[in-house]
Amino acid sequence: MYSLARPLLFTLPPEQAHCLAMQALECRLALKGLSPPPVAQAKTVMGLAFANPLGLAAGFDKNAAHIDAVATLGFGFIEVGGVTPLPQAGNPTPRIFRLPPAEAIINRMGLNNIGAVAVAANLKKRRYQGIVAVNIGKNATTDNAVAIDDYTSCLETLYRGGDFFVLNVSSPNTQNLRDWQQSDALHRLLVAVLKKRDQLAEQQQRRAPIAVKIAPDMTDDDVRQLAAVIGDTGADGVVATNTTTARPPAVTALLNGQQSGGLSGPPLKERATAIIKILRTALPPEIAIIGVGGIAGIADAEEKLAAGADLLQLYTGLIYRGATLPLDIIQHWQ
Ligand code: FNR
Repeated sequence: MYSLARPLLFTLPPEQAHCLAMQALECRLALKGLSPPPVAQAKTVMGLAFANPLGLAAGFDKNAAHIDAVATLGFGFIEVGGVTPLPQAGNPTPRIFRLPPAEAIINRMGLNNIGAVAVAANLKKRRYQGIVAVNIGKNATTDNAVAIDDYTSCLETLYRGGDFFVLNVSSPNTQNLRDWQQSDALHRLLVAVLKKRDQLAEQQQRRAPIAVKIAPDMTDDDVRQLAAVIGDTGADGVVATNTTTARPPAVTALLNGQQSGGLSGPPLKERATAIIKILRTALPPEIAIIGVGGIAGIADAEEKLAAGADLLQLYTGLIYRGATLPLDIIQHWQ
């Protein structure tokens, strides 16, 4: 089916194609209704019960406006966002580029979203019974000197609506955001966010885990240092990885291969998986690893689990392999 639809979708600019795909998923929801996520390799991670370990990565449903529709794809968890305290438009279009020969995407969206208050309202409406994660970041106009407040205020505004939270310190499209991956900075950020989480947990009688989403563009030593900070502060998990600013020569040679932004899909896979392996040896076993980057089929998924991931996510694979990809993977585990 998708081999017929894809050429048509690919005649549209990527953002329009994305809107159309969302509408198609809304239709599917209206026709088929919502069923609970399929149970396959069910597991408890970070104290949360996952029906299956495959999730939707951040950026697909930035505003949490289509959770029930994307849930029809079978995901065991859905990460919405990135969300910032205030609404922001992101970068000028065009800002998503397809690289079909590599089944890859380059995006420089710039965390466009409707803001934490509006996303919190959307989260209230969801009927999906799987786990919902919320990816939070800072506004582009917020100076890093006060950016910790952006993360804590997002957490407060969105806390009731999310099962766990992912601190986005790795989007390449917000200037200086990746500075928060430096050990001292990340330590300060985590201490503040975990303190806020503990306050909210006490008030609301529910402790939502906190994970950190990291970039693939760092040395092995940097990854180990980051793991040490994550372990020391008592964060609950790591999402590895975000898109890469690196451009393998095979990618640079392609049409759109020199666009600026973050590269996702198969060219990211190897480094993202190598980072999972480093994290797994550097982190205590109770700290969860969510593996993401280049999953386009069951073999890729198995590879990341073997590397030490507890949970998985994908995004770009949906664009090239279509809506059946998640269930194809999940059914393999049943
Ligand atoms: C993303 N990604 C992303 N990540 C994040 O932490 N916050 C975000 O807002 C976004 N937005 C976003 C938009 C677009 C268009 C893409 C393609 C990606 C990164 C995404 O969640 C994931 O980490 C990478 O895309 C790698 O996984 P895949 O796509 O190779 O499966």
